[in-house]
Amino acid sequence: MDEKLFSIIDSLEDTHRLPLQDYEYLVSHRSDEGAMLLARKASAIRDSIYGRDVFVRGLIEFSNICKNDCLYCGIRKSNSTVDRYRLTEPQILACCKQGYDLGFRTFVLQGGEDGWFTDERLVSIISKIRAAYPDCAITLSLGERDRDSYQRLFDAGANRYLLRHETADKAHYERLHPAAMSFDHRMQCLQDLRDIGYDVGIGMMVGSPYQTPHELAEDLKFIEEFQPEMCGIGPFIPAHDTPFADFPAGTLEETCYLLSIIRLIVPDVLLPATTALGTISPLGRERGIQCGANVIMPNLSPVMVRKKYMLYDNKICTGEESAQCRTCLDLRMDKIGYTIVSDRGDIRREKSGSHGGTHV
Ligand code: SAM
Ligand code: FES
Repeated sequence: MDEKLFSIIDSLEDTHRLPLQDYEYLVSHRSDEGAMLLARKASAIRDSIYGRDVFVRGLIEFSNICKNDCLYCGIRKSNSTVDRYRLTEPQILACCKQGYDLGFRTFVLQGGEDGWFTDERLVSIISKIRAAYPDCAITLSLGERDRDSYQRLFDAGANRYLLRHETADKAHYERLHPAAMSFDHRMQCLQDLRDIGYDVGIGMMVGSPYQTPHELAEDLKFIEEFQPEMCGIGPFIPAHDTPFADFPAGTLEETCYLLSIIRLIVPDVLLPATTALGTISPLGRERGIQCGANVIMPNLSPVMVRKKYMLYDNKICTGEESAQCRTCLDLRMDKIGYTIVSDRGDIRREKSGSHGGTHV
C-alpha cells in the first residue's frame, strides 16, 4: 500500500487542489487500489451534486473541412484521403428537430475550422436554433476564432463553447501541432470565451504522443486554475494517414483514473464519458460514468456523413440512426444504475464574479 498516494488523494478530496509535484506523483503512481479509491470518492461527490442523472448532448458534426493540420487528427487538412462534406443549414436544423424529439435539450455544433462558416452564416444557424428551441442550450465547438466572432455567436444565442486546450505544456503543444498553430492563441481564445460569458469546456487527450506524467500534471494544474464548466478528456487514438498513425492509443485505465481526479478537482464540472473512451473499450463509457463522469455525447449527425468525421480509427456509432443510439445508451446507463435525463444539464455552480458564467 502506497501511503503517500492515499494521503495525496485525501488531501485532494478535502481541498480540491494539489501542488504540481503531487499531481505528478498521483499520475505516475497509479495502482488498482488507488484507482478504486479515487473512483469511489469521485462518484460520491458527483452523486452529491448531480445524483445518478446522466446528461446527454446531441452532437452535430456539421463539417469535416478544416484549415488546420493538427498532427493527431484524422480530418486534418493534409489528409487527402478524407471525403469532405459540410451540412446545409436545413440539414443542421433537421438534426436539431430530430434531437429535440428524442429528448435532447443541448445541441453541440462541432466541426473543423471551415472558413465557409462565416460569422453571418453561423449567426443565421444559431439564431434559428435559439428561436425554435428556447429551452435548449447551444454549445459550439468550432475551434479558434477571434473575440469579436465569439461575441457575435454568443449574442446570437450560443451558451457554451468547447475548446480543448489539448495540453497545458507549450513545448508539448508544439509537438502536437504545426508551427502555424499557437499555444498562446489557444489560451487567449479560452480567456476570451470566459470573459464573454460562455460556459467553457477545456480538455486533453490521454496518452497523446510524447505525453509524460509531467505534462498530465500540468494539465491537472491548469484545470484546477481555470475551473472549467466542462472538461472533455478521452484517450488519444491513432488515425491512419496522419503523422501519428503508428503511436499507441491511450488506455481505458488511465483515462478513467484521470476522470476521477478531475471530478475531485472541480466537483461540479460537467464531465463526459467520451465516444473515444467507448471506442477503446466496449464498456468504456459505462466505466467513465462509474469513475465520476456525468455526461454522454451521442451523435445526431445524419448517418450518411458519420463515417466521414473520422477523427481516429474505428470510431463507434457511425452506422446507427440517432434514435438507435439514444435507446442503446438508455439501456447501457440503466444497466449500471444511472438514468439519462431530458434536461439542458447546466452546471450546478453558484454564480461567481470571476467567471461571469450565466447558468440558468
Ligand atoms: N475544430 C474544433 C477544435 O479544434 O476544437 C473541434 C473539432 S476537434 C476534431 C475536437 C477534438 O477531437 C479535439 O479537441 C481533439 O482533442 C480530439 N481529437 C482529434 N483527433 C483525435 C484523436 N486522434 N484521438 C482522440 N481525440 C482526437
Ligand atoms: Fe481541424 Fe482536426 S485538424 S478538426
